[in-house]
Amino acid sequence: MAARLVVLVSGAGSNLQALLDACADPGYGATVVAVGADRPDVEGLARGARAGAETFVVRVGDFPDRAAWDAALTEQVAKYEPDLVISAGFLKLVGPAFLAAFGGRYLNTHNALLPAFPGIHGPRDALAYGVKLAGATLFLVDEGVDTGAIIAQVAVPVLDDDTEDTLSERIKQAERPQLVEYVGRMVREGWTVTGRKVTVP
Ligand code: GRF
Repeated sequence: MAARLVVLVSGAGSNLQALLDACADPGYGATVVAVGADRPDVEGLARGARAGAETFVVRVGDFPDRAAWDAALTEQVAKYEPDLVISAGFLKLVGPAFLAAFGGRYLNTHNALLPAFPGIHGPRDALAYGVKLAGATLFLVDEGVDTGAIIAQVAVPVLDDDTEDTLSERIKQAERPQLVEYVGRMVREGWTVTGRKVTVP
């Protein structure tokens, strides 16, 4: 049976789209059962709906505090009984309730070569620092900001005339196939974690 994925987004959802496209092949071994967001009206939600996934929105502002939001998000995601939860451009840090439920199977793709340039401006920070290689990191989310155990990384060159937009786009072109490849391998073959070392067969 296909593994159940819940994907969390905050924006365009091009990584989500890559997963949706991969899941169209039964041999891939996964299906996106739901797409969730922390805000309404984002293209990622529309992409999910077009592909037949359920969609939901859990807004921080609708709750008295962050813990209540975290509990509500956890409850909502749990309803779909996911095998993996994937943050693909989801611009919120989840809290203890979410990690208690999905820790160890909550993945994030980040547009920098961690541990360099965590946070929401990876490509901008990489350009400002002057690095010559940038890239994307897929990791298991822990309680820190982009600190979890690394599953996979892919590097791309930084070119002399890059802007934040051109570098971000080059990173995304490498990031999407990496995400698709590793999610597929993980659902089909499993994975092991030893300390900080993640091994995917
Ligand atoms: C990705 O590059 C991700 O690493 C970063 O935001 C981007 C999201 O892109 N956090 P998209 O919404 O999947 O197109």
